Amino acid sequence: MPKPLIYILVVLSAITLVPLAYLALMRSTDQPVPRIQVVYDMDTQPRAKAQTVSDFFSDGHSARRFPEGTVAQNEAATDDAYAFGKQDTTWITHLPVPITREMLTRGRERFDIFCASCHGRLGDGKSLVHQRASSLGEGTWTPPADITAKTTVDRPSGELFDIISNGVRNMPAYGPQIPVADRWAVVAYLRALQRAANGQLEDVPVDRRNRIQ
Ligand code: HEC
Repeated sequence: MPKPLIYILVVLSAITLVPLAYLALMRSTDQPVPRIQVVYDMDTQPRAKAQTVSDFFSDGHSARRFPEGTVAQNEAATDDAYAFGKQDTTWITHLPVPITREMLTRGRERFDIFCASCHGRLGDGKSLVHQRASSLGEGTWTPPADITAKTTVDRPSGELFDIISNGVRNMPAYGPQIPVADRWAVVAYLRALQRAANGQLEDVPVDRRNRIQ
């Protein structure tokens, strides 16, 4: 065989190994980019990050708002007392749902998750967040209310429900995070906390009073 032909054969066989070597490399390297992608299908598409600006929509927001009046299927308001805590224009004073032990347990769990960070697990407002914010002394902190105090005890249950749903003064709304049934459970548990915080000796059965002095 002539020498040049041998060289050409050697070079050609070396070149045929290149794609295989490339495949082997792509299979073993740990890269964030796709390995080999011949057809892109819909793997990469333009997208907007949350809470950013977009020039696609006329209002410039990347995130879309719900159309006005949208409600979750299971929260369509057919009963104003249950959905808003209001009958016509007055707050309802009693819970529109029966109070059960399960409900109170659920209410305590939700309270500890959503409210205790600010109001404390007893509802007296003495939470760690409050202590920390006060110790920073920045002067901008609104102390979480003592929600076992008389002013709050005197509020109708419907108003407490509304405060959880929509917030009050400096307190943010928890309606978007806590479903309606759970909000009522929190109101029920809040009533239990208020009852406990304002307990009197007269609340204890007569035959047990001498045990707590
Ligand atoms: C981020 C902290 C924070 C969380 C969490 C929070 N609150 Fe509040 N809450 C406040 C502050 C602060 C106030 C007082 C607002 C003001 O006076 O401007 C307040 C006020 C209230 C009041 C009104 C008290 C009154 O009678 O005027 C109620 C009732 C209440 N909160 C209940 C709740 C319940 C129930 C939850 C849980 C679902 C909750 N809060 C979660 C900070 C919080």
